[in-house]
Amino acid sequence: MKILFLDQSGKPGGAELCLIDIAKPYGDRALVGLFADGSFKSLLQQHQIPVEVLATQPIQVYKSSSFLKGLGSLKQLIPLIIKVVKKAREYDLIYANTQKALVIGALASFFARRPLVYHLHDILSKEHFSQTNRRLAVTLANRFASLVIANSQASQTAFIQAGGHRDLTAVVYNGFEPKVYQTCEFEVRRLQHKLRLEGKFVVGHFSRIAPWKGQHILIDALAQCPPQVTAILVGDALFGEQDYVQQLHQQVAALELETRVKFLGFRSDIPQLMATCDLVAHTSTAAEPFGRVIVEAMLCGKPVVATKAGGAMELVEPGINGFLVKPGEPQELAQIINLCLHQTENITIMAKNAKYIATQRFDVTNINQQITQLLASKFNIAALNHS
Ligand code: UDP
Ligand code: GLC
Repeated sequence: MKILFLDQSGKPGGAELCLIDIAKPYGDRALVGLFADGSFKSLLQQHQIPVEVLATQPIQVYKSSSFLKGLGSLKQLIPLIIKVVKKAREYDLIYANTQKALVIGALASFFARRPLVYHLHDILSKEHFSQTNRRLAVTLANRFASLVIANSQASQTAFIQAGGHRDLTAVVYNGFEPKVYQTCEFEVRRLQHKLRLEGKFVVGHFSRIAPWKGQHILIDALAQCPPQVTAILVGDALFGEQDYVQQLHQQVAALELETRVKFLGFRSDIPQLMATCDLVAHTSTAAEPFGRVIVEAMLCGKPVVATKAGGAMELVEPGINGFLVKPGEPQELAQIINLCLHQTENITIMAKNAKYIATQRFDVTNINQQITQLLASKFNIAALNHS
């Protein structure tokens, strides 16, 4: 089976990193069509995944865009639609990995007469999307998709609540290669030294910088912790959130935390950086659809605290494999940081437990198998040959 994957982003967000794992086993039988150029393209090439940038200019519609704005951009989309329809005829299936990919993929599915799969990485709620965008997503998915793969039960539920057909959906979590998260102690020490983290209690935050990812909550919490508690903020503003980056720097200065908060920008050495941490904090203020960083922290054997909403609640069982705190509450987060600072033995046992559970639950081979089986059953194919 030959698959045309579509993704709107040129930058490697969580949905894109997940797509790498899904597309990789298909080798030359897959093509990832992107609607923007950027570092995600290079990443796909590094993984030997065929990739092509199909759009000549970025699509000017955003998660909060109105109906009129959406309509206005339709003219701009026509060359892209024509290109995707042509490409789709060379493949057996269209696999849309993002919302804009769903829009283009649905039209291509209609004109090229190819089945459509929609991988839903988002929670279609009003916190994340305008009503127009939510309606558009469920209408197109209901009408054109044969299968909607939701990245968590939370994403699946929101899809159904927004009017999506339940019988189209299946939940498949993100998969991970556990050995990627094994690190060399010498390398980690070197990194610790380079970042001047020795002797500190390091709380890591790994996420693109965006208001709903809640970096400001961690900074506020830090102000309520003893001076040896230091935070590393790993990630960049991928989608133009420069004002928020400024705000974070001002907040750090106002709280006189300059020596205790390090902004590291976008990094590709996540396992090594996680290994330098004593605790990983996930602080999203709106429901997280899945939350790759939570699983990654577990696979690195690090204690993790996440916010109690969305997919994070399916990943963390409080007291067993991590902590959950109320979103937007720095005080609760500070309490957990202080607890981890003092109760090291129990916390280490919990982190070990978390690593074991995550290794079993999210193994990429099993997860890919689930997707293969879903495709096989939906499209009546006895066995999908990956090679
Ligand atoms: N990530 C990365 N470099 C960074 C910050 C984050 O590679 O500097 C990765 C991180 O390891 C995770 C992904 O980006 O795999 C973020 O995915 P997640 O599901 O946590 O959130 P998203 O940004 O997709 O909402
Ligand atoms: C999206 C979501 C994130 C999820 C990722 C992979 O980027 O925001 O929560 O982990 O997709 O499914």
